[in-house]
Amino acid sequence: MANKEKILIVGSSNTDITVRVRHLPSPGETVIGGDFIMGHGGKGANQAVAVSRLGGNAEFVCMVGNDLFGRNSMEQYKKEGISIANCFVSDKSHSGLALISVDDNAENSIVVASGTNADISIEHIEKIRPLIEESSILLLQLEIPVETVMAAAEIAYRAGVRVILNPAPARNLPEEIFKYLYLIIPNQTELSTMTGIKVTDIESARQGIAVLRDKGLDSVIVTMGSKGALVSNSGMETFVEARKVEAIDTTAAGDTFCGGVCVGLAEGKDLEEAVRFATVASSLAVCKMGAQDSIPYRSEVDCKL
Ligand code: RIB
Repeated sequence: MANKEKILIVGSSNTDITVRVRHLPSPGETVIGGDFIMGHGGKGANQAVAVSRLGGNAEFVCMVGNDLFGRNSMEQYKKEGISIANCFVSDKSHSGLALISVDDNAENSIVVASGTNADISIEHIEKIRPLIEESSILLLQLEIPVETVMAAAEIAYRAGVRVILNPAPARNLPEEIFKYLYLIIPNQTELSTMTGIKVTDIESARQGIAVLRDKGLDSVIVTMGSKGALVSNSGMETFVEARKVEAIDTTAAGDTFCGGVCVGLAEGKDLEEAVRFATVASSLAVCKMGAQDSIPYRSEVDCKL
């Protein structure tokens, strides 16, 4: 493990409670669902698990509460072979919790009670500065405070570490963040929020990418669900089609994709190759229920490449 490039993931840790429903409830509607499933989740944690299962050297920094959910999560990350020596435990709030409904089309709706995820501050990032500076890639999402994400991105950028942002869930971002990013991986909704352009197809995704270019970003991957991903930097553009599979639950498919891209890049693949690898990984993730329960192992991906 020691000679592999370190991929540092700083982000959220949740416990997911998932219920299958025929359709997602409208405002004011009650729907009767199936049994509930409890599992490990959180966009940061899912991405850390994806990196580790796909063969990367993953270190994860999160903050959990001093409670049963937090302890279970930390046990899970250890079992996954993820380095968690720099995680924080806090008495101030509860560990993160996500309430998830998954419908017959495998689409989900998610409500997150952030708990301690919302308490990771710039001071915590300062404490892990050496860890950030010695990493090869820093992978971030937006389930922790934006100013915390900014602080981590700036430290990494100044140390020459590649910063990759998955801007999920969608939020408006301060303009300064874009100059710190090596790569951004939004889905269509997230790209729409960041750029003000309604992204529905390849053409509108291109327009969104052009807006990000004007902000100083070079490499962008727009994930477009079951269609695939538009990959673009100043030297090339390509569309990588998704694999056709029978989707059961799309939860954590995007997280698996982001983890896969990081592993590919850390292994020296170019951006397009890394996306092809990540596409196979995420296509496997949608075939199983749950977040971390659905993330495939490297051997499962390699035999589908
Ligand atoms: O991306 C999926 C994740 O979003 C779930 O695991 C849930 O915890 C929310 O953070």
